[in-house]
Amino acid sequence: EPFALFLVFILSFLFGSIPFGYLIGKIKGIDVREHGSGNIGATNVSRILGKKYGLLVLFLDSLKGALAVLISKLLGLPVEYQVLAGISAIAGHCFSPWLGFKGGKGVATALGAFLLISPLTTLVSFFIFFTVLILTRYVSLSSITAALSYPLLYKFFEKPSPLSFIFVTLGALLIVLKHHSNIGRLLKGQEKKFF
Ligand code: G3P
Repeated sequence: EPFALFLVFILSFLFGSIPFGYLIGKIKGIDVREHGSGNIGATNVSRILGKKYGLLVLFLDSLKGALAVLISKLLGLPVEYQVLAGISAIAGHCFSPWLGFKGGKGVATALGAFLLISPLTTLVSFFIFFTVLILTRYVSLSSITAALSYPLLYKFFEKPSPLSFIFVTLGALLIVLKHHSNIGRLLKGQEKKFF
């Protein structure tokens, strides 16, 4: 029923909108939006508060994406809707109503969501992420490369319906667009290396 579906997407968006990085910063007495890259994601929290907190944010932000997809899976929704639930969570993270419709860049939330949608694609793109990170030390470039390659890998491994493919591509584009300031810094050679 359209109303039930609508609820699933609102719920997924709300899950995604919980700004764990911001909240953990607040608990530590720091507004992470005022430090480092200003992002609320695991990378920036790691920069500001250390690896331990960065990993915690990575875990929690991934978990909310995974939960959104899990709910739609348990409801027996078709893959297209599972993908849409994942993307709703990513959108909630990127445009969190609790932060004036600003937010993070969606990478960790996508990791959790797509681990349930296509474990194989996600594992391979995680490998790509990791390789670019080791080679360049830029988290943002690693995220962008993984996001750009994701739809192609997904098509290759899962042979998805055109609709699933379009949704996955839109999710990947959202993540890339959210990295616009990183792209600017990368082009000017001003992006900070992660280690
Ligand atoms: O997941 C976000 C990452 O790709 C970049 O984070 O803080 O360097 O903008 P940051």
